[in-house]
Amino acid sequence: MKLPQLPEPRGELSAVVAEALRGEPADHDYPIEAARLADPFGEDLQLALHVCYELHYRGFDSVNPDWEWNPGLLRLRSAMEDTFLAALRDGVSGGDDISGVLDALLVEPVDGTGISHYLRDGGEWWQVCEYFVHRSIYHHKEADPHAWVIPRLQGQAKAALVAVEFDEFGGGRGERMHSQLYVDLLAGAGLETGYLHYLDVAPASMLAVVNMMSLFGLHRSLRGALVGHFAAAEITTAPSAQRMVKALRRLEADPACVLFFTEHVEADAVHEQVMRRDVIGDLLTREPELTESVVFGVQATDLLEDRFAAEVLGAWRANRPSLRQS
Ligand SMILES: [Fe+2]
Ligand SMILES: [Fe+2]
Repeated sequence: MKLPQLPEPRGELSAVVAEALRGEPADHDYPIEAARLADPFGEDLQLALHVCYELHYRGFDSVNPDWEWNPGLLRLRSAMEDTFLAALRDGVSGGDDISGVLDALLVEPVDGTGISHYLRDGGEWWQVCEYFVHRSIYHHKEADPHAWVIPRLQGQAKAALVAVEFDEFGGGRGERMHSQLYVDLLAGAGLETGYLHYLDVAPASMLAVVNMMSLFGLHRSLRGALVGHFAAAEITTAPSAQRMVKALRRLEADPACVLFFTEHVEADAVHEQVMRRDVIGDLLTREPELTESVVFGVQATDLLEDRFAAEVLGAWRANRPSLRQS
């Protein structure tokens, strides 16, 4: 299996992490204080965190897999997580109105201003390709971060979440896994298909979305937030996938590009119901004290997706690329 290369550092934290991983697992003098003071949404912290999390997924070329549980590196990661999590909590309104926050996601404004609206209404092919590149950071590991939560759920909530994951993982068929459909999409668009091939050009605003999933998935204390995030993603995917289908048909894209989104139009309409009723409903009956955590997961998803969309659309409206130039 071809593993990704360690990315180019974007500052002190990501440089220290990359430098350490080039050697054998050992203790280092990590810049814990710098991690506490770093810009929570900045390029350096988000990349360093992403690299630390990747050790739990496929890892990197020539990096010893035992780094995954290295206590010193975990200490640094923990300091970065604290910084990131505090900023997420700061950036949302909180509360315990789970129906209210989920219903708000269902309201489709006629004059929506998201990325998929932009692409549907007049986006150009280079912009579609940029969007594919951004999202590859997640879709190469689609549904993996959510699998961490399975042992932390019980009963109907667990059974229903696994049913959704079963679809994400292709219903038992490797070629139907959504991560594989995304590889096919990249190939159909003439882009590179390698796992994390585009990590160096993905901005912090994209990495933050994926880091949030890993953060929520890897901490049992954040299992409510992971479920909230998952529900929010499933609710918003079907309508945005519908708009992507329109954009891609208008631009006469390869059928493999369209298939990824048509698959999500149908699947996520069902997933949305299952996540709301069977996963969140059952979880909060069992553990009502998790309500605020679920709400937080929904709101944090909204916050980071909005930040990402604002950055991408800001660049496109100024006729600039939205990807980092490597
Ligand atoms: Fe999916
Ligand atoms: Fe889904």
